Amino acid sequence: MAISDFISRLAAYYKLHGLGPTIRRAGVGVRRALNSNRMLVFYCDLTKLKASPASLPSPLKIERVRGHQELGQQDLEGLTNFWNPEQAHRNIKERFESHASLWLIKSEGQLAGYSWTIQGRTIAPYYFPMGQDDVQFFDWFVFPRFRGRAIHWFLITHILRGLAAEGVSRAFGDVALWNQASLSSYKMTPFCPLGCVRAFRVFGHTIVIWAETETGEQIFKGSERKANTVTSARANGD
Ligand SMILES: CC(C)(COP(=O)(O)OP(=O)(O)OC[C@H]1O[C@@H](n2cnc3c(N)ncnc32)[C@H](O)[C@@H]1OP(=O)(O)O)[C@@H](O)C(=O)NCCC(=O)NCCS
Repeated sequence: MAISDFISRLAAYYKLHGLGPTIRRAGVGVRRALNSNRMLVFYCDLTKLKASPASLPSPLKIERVRGHQELGQQDLEGLTNFWNPEQAHRNIKERFESHASLWLIKSEGQLAGYSWTIQGRTIAPYYFPMGQDDVQFFDWFVFPRFRGRAIHWFLITHILRGLAAEGVSRAFGDVALWNQASLSSYKMTPFCPLGCVRAFRVFGHTIVIWAETETGEQIFKGSERKANTVTSARANGD
């Protein structure tokens, strides 16, 4: 994240929460920035997935949005008002202009979370070039009151199946190693670890270093929760 973005986000945080929490949040931000270039990259071979839509428990609905004109006002407000509205609007505009898709997951009609995907390219420099049939997952979020219910898992599973049906061959994503909730959520999905990586921007060039000491497998190992979640989702008709 650029320093200007960091400052702008802190200013928005200060308006909402005041000085004390902003100082604490800045500390967390600085610690994360120092570690933020340690990422786990993961991939999914979509040719090995069932290409039918995953069934969802009845309160959940997923919508794919491909442009501003398809995005309802209430959803737009939900997506932009919870952190830095100005930057959120800019991101949405830039992403739709780059033909990215926004996937919304709703629970009983209320926006519960979202994820973005983009095919054949990336918005920001990536660790390797994308092929025409490759899709990148980026910027996913579940609103705090919906967390811990595997909502993100349902969303990702649905997106992967939908992309497989469209003939997309591979999906990629990456998570910062400090982000335990994201790691926990992704390790339940059909994604597999590719490796750990650090990336640096030097004079406009991206330098990528794949880590040798830590394997993705060690970080991304399965969990009891994975088996339970998959079993309960199947009971819901998947
Ligand atoms: C990562 C995220 C999308 C996961 O969504 P989710 O639907 O809550 O996912 P899960 O239900 O699978 O929970 C994942 C982990 O979140 C944590 N969690 C569980 N309940 C939680 C709650 N009520 N509040 C916060 N975190 C919770 C747990 O660590 C859980 O893992 P574990 O129980 O297996 O150890 C969500 O936490 C989020 O939006 N985080 C902030 C945004 C972010 O980090 N995005 C990624 C970078 S773009």
